[in-house]
Amino acid sequence: MNFSTSLVSISFLLLSFCFNVPAFAAGNSTSNSTHILLSCGTSETSIDDVNNLTWIGDSTTKYISQTASQISSIPNQNPSVPEVPYSNARIFTSNYTYTFPLSPGLYFLRLYFYPTNYSNLFASDSYMTVTVGPYTLLSNFSAWITVTALDYDYLFREFSINITSTTLNLTFAPSTKHPNAFAFINGIEIVSSPDIFSISTDYYGDGTNKVFSYDQGMAFQTMYRLNVGGQSLSPSEDSGNMYRSWENDQNYIFGAAFGVANQKDPNVTIEYPPNMPQYIAPFDVYETARSMGPEPKINLQYNLSWILNVDAGFKYLVRLHFCEIKYPMTKINQRVFFIYINNQTAQNQFDVILYSGGICIPIYRDYVILTSGSGQMEMWVALHPDLSTRTQYFDAILNGLEVFKMSTVENLAGLHY
Ligand SMILES: *[C@@H]1O[C@H](CO)[C@@H](O)[C@H](O)[C@H]1NC(C)=O
Ligand SMILES: *[C@@H]1O[C@H](CO)[C@@H](O)[C@H](O)[C@H]1NC(C)=O
Ligand SMILES: *[C@@H]1O[C@H](CO)[C@@H](O)[C@H](O)[C@H]1NC(C)=O
Ligand SMILES: *[C@@H]1O[C@H](CO)[C@@H](O)[C@H](O)[C@H]1NC(C)=O
Ligand SMILES: *[C@@H]1O[C@H](CO)[C@@H](O)[C@H](O)[C@H]1NC(C)=O
Ligand SMILES: *[C@@H]1O[C@H](CO)[C@@H](O)[C@H](O)[C@H]1NC(C)=O
Ligand SMILES: *[C@@H]1O[C@H](CO)[C@@H](O)[C@H](O)[C@H]1NC(C)=O
Ligand SMILES: *[C@@H]1O[C@H](CO)[C@@H](O)[C@H](O)[C@H]1NC(C)=O
Ligand SMILES: *[C@@H]1O[C@H](CO)[C@@H](O)[C@H](O)[C@H]1NC(C)=O
Ligand SMILES: *[C@@H]1O[C@H](CO)[C@@H](O)[C@H](O)[C@H]1NC(C)=O
Ligand SMILES: *[C@@H]1O[C@H](CO)[C@@H](O)[C@H](O)[C@H]1NC(C)=O
Repeated sequence: MNFSTSLVSISFLLLSFCFNVPAFAAGNSTSNSTHILLSCGTSETSIDDVNNLTWIGDSTTKYISQTASQISSIPNQNPSVPEVPYSNARIFTSNYTYTFPLSPGLYFLRLYFYPTNYSNLFASDSYMTVTVGPYTLLSNFSAWITVTALDYDYLFREFSINITSTTLNLTFAPSTKHPNAFAFINGIEIVSSPDIFSISTDYYGDGTNKVFSYDQGMAFQTMYRLNVGGQSLSPSEDSGNMYRSWENDQNYIFGAAFGVANQKDPNVTIEYPPNMPQYIAPFDVYETARSMGPEPKINLQYNLSWILNVDAGFKYLVRLHFCEIKYPMTKINQRVFFIYINNQTAQNQFDVILYSGGICIPIYRDYVILTSGSGQMEMWVALHPDLSTRTQYFDAILNGLEVFKMSTVENLAGLHY
């Protein structure tokens, strides 16, 4: 299925921020962990998914409201769609609110959608707005349009929200503009999260870099979380009890210039620096990487590039994960490269060993990107050798790539995203 992006005279402003690893309190996971896995539209009390995580039917819980809703099971479920949580749904023809009592703190909220025909309702008629307290997460959202465009059968959306009171009200509102519109949801997951976004005031850079401070009320939507050069990682393979999914990066590489996927040398192990918690990303993300290749002449002729569709008009946090994992890359000035984001230089003379201190020590860097315009646009992340320091090898490396949309005045809703 073709996916067209409307890229009409969008202008960019790139703010590049580059940070040292933040001064987190050491620790691998949250102390007060909540993990709610709600299978919507069923009264089953315990249902295991493919990752052996146990979901509970929402009908058996106190989270549901008394407002009218229908439940539906899916008679002819596509075999490629996992049964849990996609084999039933709760359907709303008027506003409906789930209420979750929670301790204040940061949470990931994941919403699972399988847009299909529900009894007498057509998948293509579902348009909804989803809000959490003051945040609009999705607006005029058609899960059907999104899966059709991406050629998927089902999807989930992940948000990071800072809860300041003791309840989270999650409201599904069918569009009032579209005739016969309904809202639906197959699964809701809420999991407590450590503060993976805050950053310290330490940073390296070329003098133009600034420290960015997040608004207290900032919410994030995960757009991409890629294990570059490695396998997709399931929620049970994540670190920090956040149950994040990491996707292989191949679908996002530009053109035929795939570079080379690398695995760490067998005689070394990943060692997180003392000020970097393991929950930032699991071992597996750092143990694999993509580099440009062994041929310096070829590397000088291309950019190793990833293309990511995003909604224009938002700020994005782009987090790049790095780790040198193979001999002989152990010294400063062996592999030095440019990082371009949206065709602008986010970083020159980037040297993983310089910032990490050695082989198999992970680091990550955050960049905040402003975009303008509306509709969809492509975000380009590209790497190219930087010869200005007379680097030994003409190459570049990346281990992981995350892109988070940042809320603007409590809104995260883009066109169908
Ligand atoms: C984090 O996990 C590692 C490995 O599982 C363990 O060695 C370390 O003690 C843990 N740190 C904390 C603060 O729990
Ligand atoms: C987290 O748990 C500790 C100990 O159980 C408790 O004292 C603290 O109030 C809890 N924090 C939150 C935010 O619930
Ligand atoms: C789920 O549990 C079963 C039985 O204990 C085990 O064989 C299987 O490997 C587990 N699957 C995953 C993804 O952990
Ligand atoms: C839903 O029903 C419409 C009309 O009958 C049909 O064209 C469409 O293929 C159905 N969609 C699915 C996902 O079954
Ligand atoms: C959630 O909804 C309940 C019931 O309407 C209300 O009492 C409560 O204040 C709401 N909480 C938040 C954080 O909006
Ligand atoms: C909702 O999205 C549909 C499909 O793109 C569009 O036709 C419609 O105008 C949108 N409605 C609103 C109120 O934005
Ligand atoms: C339902 O929710 C929508 C979107 O948040 C809102 O605009 C509308 O006023 C709500 N309708 C009712 C009857 O509360
Ligand atoms: C969450 O909100 C509380 C209260 O406004 C604030 O103290 C805390 O720093 C916020 N945390 C994050 C990660 O934004
Ligand atoms: C690992 O093997 C490489 C040769 O492949 C060698 O140069 C290096 O010193 C070894 N490292 C350790 C920690 O043994
Ligand atoms: C970056 O450059 C490429 C190739 O010149 C172009 O196709 C693309 O639209 C540009 N991207 C942005 C975000 O400007
Ligand atoms: C790599 O990308 C940068 C920024 O878009 C561009 O200026 C440069 O020409 C590209 N280099 C190659 C070899 O494509």
